[in-house]
Order: sequence, then C-alpha cells, then structure tokens
Amino acid sequence: MINYKEIGLVNTRSMLEKAVTGGYAVPAYNFNNMEQLQAIIQACVETKSPVILQVSSGARKYANQTILRYLAQGAVEYAKELGGNIPIALHLDHGDTFDLCKSCIEMGFSSVMIDGSHHGYEQNIELTAMVVQFAHQHDITVEGELGVLAGVEDDVSAEKSTYTNPSQVEDFVKRTGVDSLAISIGTSHGANKFTPGQCTKNEKGNLVPPPLKFEILQEIEKRLINFPIVLHGSSSVPEKEVMCINKYGGNLDNAIGIPEEQLRKAAALSVSKINIDSDGRLAMTAAIRKVFFESPGQFDPRKYLGPARDSLKQLYIHKNIHVLGSAGKA
Ligand code: G3H
Ligand code: 13P
Ligand code: ZN
Repeated sequence: MINYKEIGLVNTRSMLEKAVTGGYAVPAYNFNNMEQLQAIIQACVETKSPVILQVSSGARKYANQTILRYLAQGAVEYAKELGGNIPIALHLDHGDTFDLCKSCIEMGFSSVMIDGSHHGYEQNIELTAMVVQFAHQHDITVEGELGVLAGVEDDVSAEKSTYTNPSQVEDFVKRTGVDSLAISIGTSHGANKFTPGQCTKNEKGNLVPPPLKFEILQEIEKRLINFPIVLHGSSSVPEKEVMCINKYGGNLDNAIGIPEEQLRKAAALSVSKINIDSDGRLAMTAAIRKVFFESPGQFDPRKYLGPARDSLKQLYIHKNIHVLGSAGKA
C-alpha cells in the first residue's frame, strides 16, 4: 500500500471546500502521457492554481498504472522545482468497480470517482457506499455521480442524458458518505456535445448551444449547502483548435462544446471541480497537425510534441484564469 501523503499528494477535501465557498472551481485535467502532465504542472504553478490530475481507466490501460503513478509523483517534485507549492491530487476518473477503486487507492491515488450512474439508484448507493467505506479508512476522498451524461464514459456509454433529480441528492449523499457529487445538467463527454439542430444562431451566425440547466444546479445547492458539486464533460471545444485541425488535414464535423461563460457561472455557484479532457486533446492534435503540415520532413517527436505541450499549457493557463477562476487560489 502506497500512502499518497508520503509522496506529496493531497486528497480533494480541503481544495474543494475552499472552492465551493470561494466561488471558483478546481481544474481536473486528464492525462496519460508526460507532455500533458508537464503542461498541466507548468500552467498550474504559473497561475498558482490547485489541480486534480485525472486518470481514466482507459488511460491506465494505455500507459500502465505504475508508470502513471510515478509520473504523478514526478509531477509533485517538478512543481516544487518550478518553485510552486500547489496542492496536487491524483484522482481516478470514472472508476466503474470497487476493485478498480481499491487498486488505485493501493497504488497511491489520493481520490477516486466511483461512477455508479449507469446502475439503478439503490445499486448506485450500494456500490458507492462500499467504495467510500474503504477509501475513508485511508483518508481518500470519493466522488459519486447521480444522473447520466450522454457520450462515452470509458467503458460506460449512454445515448441520452438523464438530468440529476434534485430530490435524490440529500439521500444519496447521506447514505453513501461521498465527499463530492457529479451531476448531469446538460454537459456531455467528447467534442460533439450538441447537434446543430439543438443550437440557435446568434447575430454573427455562430451556433449557440442550449444553456446548462442552472435551475437544477440551484435546486441541488439549496438541498446540499456548501457541498462540492462536480461537472464532467466541460470542454468548450475552442473554435480556434477545431479550425486549425481542419485546416491542416483533419476532419471534425459539428464539434460544439460548453460556452466558457456558462462554466464561469457554474464555478461561481457550487460547482467546485470541472473536468476537462477533450479540449486538451484538440489543442495537442491541432499543434501536431500544424507541424506535420508545415514541416513534412520532421520526424523528431520532440519537434511536434514540444509545440503541442506549449499549446496545451496556454490552454490551461487561460482556463485557470478566465474560466474556472482557480488562478491564485493555491
Ligand atoms: O470522461 C472521460 C474522459 O475524457 C476519459 O476518456 O476514457 O478516453 O480516457 P478516456
Ligand atoms: P470533456 O470530454 O468535455 O473534456 O469531459 C471530460 C470529463 O468529463 C472527464 O471525466
Ligand atoms: Zn467525465
């Protein structure tokens, strides 16, 4: 059993409590390789932001759990080397079984998500409570989920979303003991969150997606006072990155994300953790495609992964300062 505290990680309890009362959200950025992790740490140290490093079970399979754990340990040391004393959590994203959560806890993770949202209500409670019971013995925080997001959640995929039912949240939190709760209010995973048919057009002719269901968030807030709420599927799908990908040989159709102002509004309310993965994938892909297009003779991975890392870093800096409001909160 590796104790996360001994390797300099923290759980998410204090960082989310501060965020919920402070009107901002802590970034939860997914990673599965070294360049992504370097970009996250550089951006969060420069903006003095707390950060949650997220590993999905797909990432774990791709990169190997031992390597990821040592990368995260390296990230803690790297942050110090850069002169930043920022809180860093290592979190399992969309854990779907007790055994997976247990294995991550034993590997040195400081926080886990048990996503029982695809089960029935009672079964979700039973599974989530079992993970909480084990995790809390080791002072590891647990995120649960109520309501279903459309799109792919690792091995779990849903065609349609089901919004969180506010009348269930108090019972769920009380009976499971979770430290934070992911809810469904209109976000979804991936780069195609809405169809053009679901959007309206503004005066410039740009597509505007339907607003998030803030009435549900506010109803939940009334029932769970100062309790950390988590928003998954929160990439904004920047037009700049999509255009760059398509300009340099890509083919992304109807890529539409969550507008930044909507996320800012959610962060000012009780949303205290915002999950972003797809935007990082888009920024990396755009930068790499540009190098490949402009320098077809280039074959040194550092010459395209380097610019990809720089672009990612700028994306995260922008988010911490202008979207999540986490800059300066470390
Ligand atoms: O919520 C899903 C995350 O974006 C992780 O995606 O399962 O492809 O690693 P992944
Ligand atoms: P995006 O696909 O919108 O980046 O969401 C990521 C996420 O929710 C990870 O859990
Ligand atoms: Zn998610």
